[in-house]
Amino acid sequence: MLTSLVVAPMAGGPTTAELVRAAARAGATGFLAAGYKMPEAVEAELRAVAGHAHGLNIFVPSPAPVDPAPLEGYRQLLRAEADRYQVELPPLRLTDDDHYAAKIELAVTYRVPLVSFTFGVPDPAVVRALRDAGTAVLITVTSADEARAALAAGPRALIAQAGSAGGHASTTSPDGYRGTSTALEVLAAVRAVADVPVVAAGGTASAADVHALLGAGAAAVQCGTAFLLADEAGTRPAQRAVMLSGEPGQTVVTRAFTGQPARGLRNRFTDAYSAAAPIGYPAIHHLTAPIRAAAAARGDASALNLWAGTGFAATRAAPAADIVGMLGQAA
Ligand SMILES: Cc1cc2nc3c(=O)[nH]c(=O)nc-3n(C[C@H](O)[C@H](O)[C@H](O)COP(=O)(O)O)c2cc1C
Repeated sequence: MLTSLVVAPMAGGPTTAELVRAAARAGATGFLAAGYKMPEAVEAELRAVAGHAHGLNIFVPSPAPVDPAPLEGYRQLLRAEADRYQVELPPLRLTDDDHYAAKIELAVTYRVPLVSFTFGVPDPAVVRALRDAGTAVLITVTSADEARAALAAGPRALIAQAGSAGGHASTTSPDGYRGTSTALEVLAAVRAVADVPVVAAGGTASAADVHALLGAGAAAVQCGTAFLLADEAGTRPAQRAVMLSGEPGQTVVTRAFTGQPARGLRNRFTDAYSAAAPIGYPAIHHLTAPIRAAAAARGDASALNLWAGTGFAATRAAPAADIVGMLGQAA
């Protein structure tokens, strides 16, 4: 079903159809990232990867917040940033299903070989519809409890995402989430309760990391950060510059940009707002969007979400095929 190496879906720019095609040509499996995109854009990408091994990643909609007051408080706090970047803060937008139904329909119509979900568990009916279309469904989890809940929906496999992973945590318990687990730990915890194959993800930076996870029983290893500087990736220039500077610092887990815990490079924004940021995806994602867009336009990395995992220091700029080759080298 899967090659042993998976190039992770990375929404927000890094994943391109070109990256997925390059991964497939090099013997890995790349996932398109449907997150934040309009269905038309997803459809264009599905057409662009036809004939290549590929998957599609879809965000499961988050439940509406019970109490919007902390979000309003955070909005007030962000006024200083809005002034700094000369943007208007939008009114709070509490729900957004990211065109979930349309994206599922596209996956069914295009009989996408693999569909992975993050941020929650899809309805069993959705899993059945995809299975009937010949699609293997994978659900991302961060703990044994989340694995049990996901298994009830009938997926073909689980993705065990560690706290070391770059980008958003798929956790459904963002409150207590600290992001301290390693890929080996989460793989073991998930395998202990799962009767389906488990893909390991988080913090992998070398062939030795990949081999250790495969040796510990992972059906495949999903790597994201290692591909952020791939020639074919659409990573923003400001993030590339930070990662190539030789001084990218360290990663932190923060809700400051989107309201969902995510690991990224520490910067001025994470220092200033991580402590105050409430739980609230996608409300905070929409709230900070104009600030992030203005910062990106100025090439100012200090207010950008620079998603990256703990292995970021080993990331090298190279064609994706070379990175696949490096990660897949025999131990
Ligand atoms: C920039 C970036 C964007 C990401 N976007 C997504 C996404 O859209 N969907 C998803 O399921 N995972 C996403 N992830 C998480 C990856 O699927 C995976 O768990 C992670 O990259 C593995 O850890 P690593 O980055 O240390 O290799 C993203 C990761 C990064 C670094």
